[in-house]
Amino acid sequence: MSMLHTVDVDGLLTLMNPADDPILERMEDQANREGFPTVGHEVGAFFRLCARLMDAESVFEFGSGFGYSAYWMAPAIGPAGQIVLTEVDEDELDQARAYFEQGGYADRAVFERGDALEVIDRYDGPFDLVHLDHENERYLDGFETVREKVSQGGVIVADNVLHSGEAMSPADLRAVLDGARTPDEGSSLAGIAEYYTHVTNDPEFETSVIPVGEGIFASVRT
Ligand SMILES: C[S@@+](CC[C@H](N)C(=O)[O-])C[C@H]1O[C@@H](n2cnc3c(N)ncnc32)[C@H](O)[C@@H]1O
Repeated sequence: MSMLHTVDVDGLLTLMNPADDPILERMEDQANREGFPTVGHEVGAFFRLCARLMDAESVFEFGSGFGYSAYWMAPAIGPAGQIVLTEVDEDELDQARAYFEQGGYADRAVFERGDALEVIDRYDGPFDLVHLDHENERYLDGFETVREKVSQGGVIVADNVLHSGEAMSPADLRAVLDGARTPDEGSSLAGIAEYYTHVTNDPEFETSVIPVGEGIFASVRT
């Protein structure tokens, strides 16, 4: 359950999310069984909504795991669209490929094994939607490597920005941004605070905080 809203809101979000895709259910079962940190269904549904609202055709993801968040976006980009999944772990990426094949979305997906910050160099874009879900401390590097490749009106969404297990809470982040606390160098908290300060000062992007799941920053290229 998200720490960012009440039990009732959480229940309603669950009711409103499409549960009719057996592949998504299988992926959720796997995540629960293995304790794998996917974005969760409410963030997945939000990403799909973003992709539909902007008629996204091209998506790039930094850190795809076994494909859960990418799978949520896949139906929204249509058969002519392309979603690039990146993952350092070969086994995770193989599982993502298998899930996409079972769901009938493999034809619109590219599976890239390796460091997303290196993979992105091989792509020109433009990307309508970019998802940052690799190491928190490297979100800013991810943003900088991809910002010029984002289409006008395109969005970069960064996940886990308000909560990160024991490592960070919204109160921690506020304290750092208000100057009341200095985070440990190299920590998630330091990385997210640095990211937030940077993207909110980028004149080409407009950034909003979305309190779903563990929190999202959505930065639109204006
Ligand atoms: C929090 S998990 C999220 C996976 C997926 N986005 C989801 O919601 O199910 C982050 C994943 O990113 C991968 N990862 C971490 N750093 C990476 C990098 N630099 N490039 C590619 N993948 C990375 C990890 O191996 C892990 O599987």
